[in-house]
Amino acid sequence: MEKNTILKIKHLSQYYPGVKALDDINFEIYEGETHAVCGENGAGKSTFIKILTGANTPTKGSIEFAGHEYSCLTPKESMELGISVIYQEFSLIPYLSVSENIFYGREIKKGVFRDLTAMNEKAQQLCKEMGVELDIEARVCDLGVAYQQIVEIMKAVSRKARLLIMDEPTAPLTLNETEIFFNIVRKLQQDGVTIIFISHRLEEVFELCNRVTVFCDGRYITTKNVDEINKKQLISYMVGRELADDFPSPKNGIGEVVLKVDGLTNHVVRNLSFELHKGEILGFGGLVGAGRTEAAQAIFGADTYQTGSMLLNGKPYMPRLPKDALQAGIGLIPEDRKHQGVIMGLNIRENIIYSVLERCSAKLFPYIDSQREKSCVEKYIKELNIKAPNMEELVGNLSGGNQQKVVLGKMLATECDILIFDEPTRGIDVGAKYEIYQLMCQFVEQGKSIIMISSEMPELIGMSNRIIVMCEGRISGELAKNEFSQERILELASKHCIMEGLQ
Ligand SMILES: Nc1ncnc2c1ncn2[C@@H]1O[C@H](COP(=O)(O)OP(=O)(O)OP(=O)(O)O)[C@@H](O)[C@H]1O
Ligand SMILES: [Mg+2]
Repeated sequence: MEKNTILKIKHLSQYYPGVKALDDINFEIYEGETHAVCGENGAGKSTFIKILTGANTPTKGSIEFAGHEYSCLTPKESMELGISVIYQEFSLIPYLSVSENIFYGREIKKGVFRDLTAMNEKAQQLCKEMGVELDIEARVCDLGVAYQQIVEIMKAVSRKARLLIMDEPTAPLTLNETEIFFNIVRKLQQDGVTIIFISHRLEEVFELCNRVTVFCDGRYITTKNVDEINKKQLISYMVGRELADDFPSPKNGIGEVVLKVDGLTNHVVRNLSFELHKGEILGFGGLVGAGRTEAAQAIFGADTYQTGSMLLNGKPYMPRLPKDALQAGIGLIPEDRKHQGVIMGLNIRENIIYSVLERCSAKLFPYIDSQREKSCVEKYIKELNIKAPNMEELVGNLSGGNQQKVVLGKMLATECDILIFDEPTRGIDVGAKYEIYQLMCQFVEQGKSIIMISSEMPELIGMSNRIIVMCEGRISGELAKNEFSQERILELASKHCIMEGLQ
């Protein structure tokens, strides 16, 4: 590869009260390369990106892009330079269609009016080029997260970017969609687009990238050619130590049935029946859209169910609202933290305590013991290693992964007996993942139970006692521990299997 530098980072720093999000960063990106930026949650990756897109004004330093030096960029300048970004948090407009979103702000016009037909045609063509099947007239809010992500990518690609930045693009994708995404990236690479790629899935860094730069706590650590290092070395650059990469296993037996779901059916889920035992981690595998999230939401009272019944510890359980579920001792850690998990405008303490209150109010707690409240919050900040100056920091100011940890802390603090984890480690760095697995183990060792929806195969296989696989709203199979394999899960998750299963 020719080594023309397209982007030079010079002494770049971004300071916030109590946090050096970036501290004197220097490195270069070559034209046409795919360059990964890695680091733990809160290392400064998204902050770096925000400076490149003009969303942030750096405290110090400058960037040189294609030979011109800028002490800061405005969003407009950044766009005109051909810098395009796929954000970690979606930036789509939910009530507009796919094609309206792709061309938002750059609508194709006929006279003074928007030419929707032309936009639809162009979007359709883009889909075809990228090998994606998508209803371009559908409203974005009606698509699953994976497809929303694909729309984000299409939006960026359609801008003919010179530098394309992807901040955890694959976090909401399962294996299948990740494959589609990889193909899109390979096509962009062939077209000579320079890519900055941020991901906590390190395998992707090795599969897609040429070089990798590591940040740690806002500082620059190193830049390496990907084929000169292995995963273990990369992790040790990121976390400053070597990590155990196996899964912890809980030291407890499985007890009696605590939750029995019988014939649960709603707009997506079809006749779902299963039993969850005391002390068990029950995994749910499947592709995006298989109905796992909807099933979880129904059990948590956040989605309706038309027919079916549930027994909790032998007694009828019929949640109409999440509040009912919490009071019955069932908590949910949702996949979409921005909309369901945390309140961005509240601080860490308020977020963690909020759901405790919702649960405690049933027990008629007359007052909040602020000392107890503080020590409870402190405990979770410490256990989950939430990176923040203090517990009064707004959750909206935390890094993506640290927001996810607040969601976890919030639900752990409710002391529910059953926790449903929907993609528990999405956006969480390698070190913290292990901590979360250990917390899950401790949880079931106390005789509590977990339902874990996960699209990460190693996690699903490593943590579950039993795996139920769903496909198109139905259960397509159940695997005991000695039957676990990636192939078997994928086979059950894909379509043909359910056809056989239905006779
Ligand atoms: N507006 C802000 N005010 C205060 N602190 C902030 C603000 N934005 C970011 N930070 C802090 O800066 C640090 C770096 O955050 P950043 O979002 O860049 O991390 P990241 O590397 O992208 O992490 P993740 O992997 O979790 O997405 C974090 O400690 C974060 O809390
Ligand atoms: Mg980030």
